[in-house]
Amino acid sequence: MKTIRFTGYDTLSDFMAAEIATAIKNKPSLTLCMASGHTPALTAALLAKKLLDENIDYSTITFLGLDEWIGMPPENEGSCHYFFKTKLFEPLQLQPSQCFLFNSLAADMESECTKMDAVISERGGIDLMVVGIGMNGHIGFNEPGTSFATLSHIATLDETTTSVGQKYFKEKTALSKGVTIGLGHLLHAKKCFLIANGNKKAGVIKQTVEGPVTENFPASILQQHSNGFVLVDEEAASLLTTN
Ligand code: PGA
Repeated sequence: MKTIRFTGYDTLSDFMAAEIATAIKNKPSLTLCMASGHTPALTAALLAKKLLDENIDYSTITFLGLDEWIGMPPENEGSCHYFFKTKLFEPLQLQPSQCFLFNSLAADMESECTKMDAVISERGGIDLMVVGIGMNGHIGFNEPGTSFATLSHIATLDETTTSVGQKYFKEKTALSKGVTIGLGHLLHAKKCFLIANGNKKAGVIKQTVEGPVTENFPASILQQHSNGFVLVDEEAASLLTTN
């Protein structure tokens, strides 16, 4: 794992978008898994702009959404569906056949997980994964205590996740379960980036980079990834003692 520091959120997002665009240029059949949320918002916007401005052919990529709140209608602005639809699928006119998101309203969530795992396995694993980090160290909805070997699964959300998650919604929203691609997929992804910015992420970034590798702090899994990168702005890097 390597840590890369940036002066700010803009330069970090610009680098991340350029990395994804280059990966698509180098492998037109790229399988890309991305998180939604506040951190990747600018990366997604810059990526869409870059792909269009530079006329990069993305017609054969596969896009996977990292997670979703169970029971959340896709038209809700706080849903992961809404994020990807407005920031990437619509601007890029991605084909439904190349986009895979968990159906948060499915009657059978287990089968949603089986379907996602099958898509990942058919494509020989994830090529490039871009994730954020929660205030409890979660990645996607891999909450503290989740085995590093898990594939797609249903998660009971941690209290930190349900309270911090309110920031995505216009009004107080009941959140209790999520569905997510698992840490086993992340560990086997050919390349993985964890991105974080702002002072509030400084503590969790210190634990990710310098703390013990433990399933009680899911993001520490990055230390075990042979092609894993932690991208941080100055604020998120402010508690790191190593380079
Ligand atoms: P954020 O979410 O990017 O909105 O801070 C991070 C996360 O919980 O994974």
